[in-house]
Amino acid sequence: MIKKLGIYACQPCGVVAEALTNSNEQLVCCDQPMAELTAKTSDEGKEKHVPIVERRQDSIKIKVGSNPHPMEEKHYIQWIDVIVDNKAYRQFLKPGQAPEVIFPITDKNIIVREYCNVHGLWKN
Ligand SMILES: [Fe+2]
Repeated sequence: MIKKLGIYACQPCGVVAEALTNSNEQLVCCDQPMAELTAKTSDEGKEKHVPIVERRQDSIKIKVGSNPHPMEEKHYIQWIDVIVDNKAYRQFLKPGQAPEVIFPITDKNIIVREYCNVHGLWKN
């Protein structure tokens, strides 16, 4: 297997795709192999991207990031997702919305990711 589950991007056109199965085939777009995105885990600079998880009684609230991330037409959080065991939760967002979401998750062992259209993939 040369490819595993993950988020991939095409450099020339900027399309982002998710591989949901393993495969021996290379993902290709614009006649080039797509690169797997590595989620960044620590913030630098003034814009904050690492998702912050707030646990509630029957849910979790996720905010991007420690200062709310911009949600402008040209720069915004496109989605926030959580992977728990065999389930995935994803909220797509639009410019003007708050960069946050609530999911009905009480599990402790979770992976939280978000995708910024300018700064890429981040996780906590
Ligand atoms: Fe950003």
